[in-house]
Amino acid sequence: MNKCIILLNLLFVVNASLLSNITQQKYVEDGIIPDVIDVAPSKKFTVIFDSDKKAELGNHLTPTEVKNQPKIEWEGLVDPKKYYVLAMVDPDIPSRLLPILREYKHWLIGNIPGNNFSSKDAVVIAPYQSPVPPRFTGFHRYIFLLYEQKDFLMFDEPKGTELSPKNRPRFSVKSFAKKYNLGDPIAGNYFKAKWDEYVDEKNLIMINDLFKGLLNKTAT
Ligand SMILES: *[C@@H]1O[C@H](CO)[C@@H](O)[C@H](O)[C@H]1NC(C)=O
Ligand SMILES: *[C@@H]1O[C@H](CO)[C@@H](O)[C@H](O)[C@H]1NC(C)=O
Ligand SMILES: *[C@@H]1O[C@H](CO)[C@@H](O)[C@H](O)[C@H]1NC(C)=O
Repeated sequence: MNKCIILLNLLFVVNASLLSNITQQKYVEDGIIPDVIDVAPSKKFTVIFDSDKKAELGNHLTPTEVKNQPKIEWEGLVDPKKYYVLAMVDPDIPSRLLPILREYKHWLIGNIPGNNFSSKDAVVIAPYQSPVPPRFTGFHRYIFLLYEQKDFLMFDEPKGTELSPKNRPRFSVKSFAKKYNLGDPIAGNYFKAKWDEYVDEKNLIMINDLFKGLLNKTAT
């Protein structure tokens, strides 16, 4: 009888720790641990696009649905007196099978006071660049992470522009967090997406921009 109770208790404890966080478990199932981070955040924040679609721990969205910068809602998770980093990366670049350019930096902002993204303190290191997963490369994982800074920071990172791939591939959010002493992410969320027609449209926009830049250079 006693043994039975002990066993039941033990099962409960094991179960509780294994399933302690379904959110955390998802990161393991989807290989985000160890591909991107070492410790899964137990909390999630809201990432909502103007298509009304939300990231929901690995749901499938289309490049069309996520083409514009989403709204991030993490009010209850942050302290307005502290500074935060928002990062969005794609580790599956050019594909999850052969991620030789891992990770692609899609979005990176530092010194966000609490949830005030419009604060003058916030530094946009790389503005939001929407996913353009190449055709035939399957689903890519797009991961959003929230880190808490110990202090206001001076970031000496190469900046990205909205349309250029410059300074975006071969990023490591883990190394970035280490460099700025950010610890593990305190919250996150992610979705998956694969090629749709919008990818071709967006690539044309980016190529056009590149040519305009080149033409400008030759003109001067
Ligand atoms: C697990 O994650 C949820 C969702 O973010 C959070 O509300 C909850 O407190 C976490 N539970 C544990 C046991 O850490
Ligand atoms: C956010 O930052 C802006 C600009 O620095 C400031 O004017 C505004 O009052 C802040 N909003 C909140 C809610 O603190
Ligand atoms: C090209 O030059 C024009 C005029 O100087 C400028 O407005 C435009 O932003 C430049 N385009 C690029 C892509 O650099």
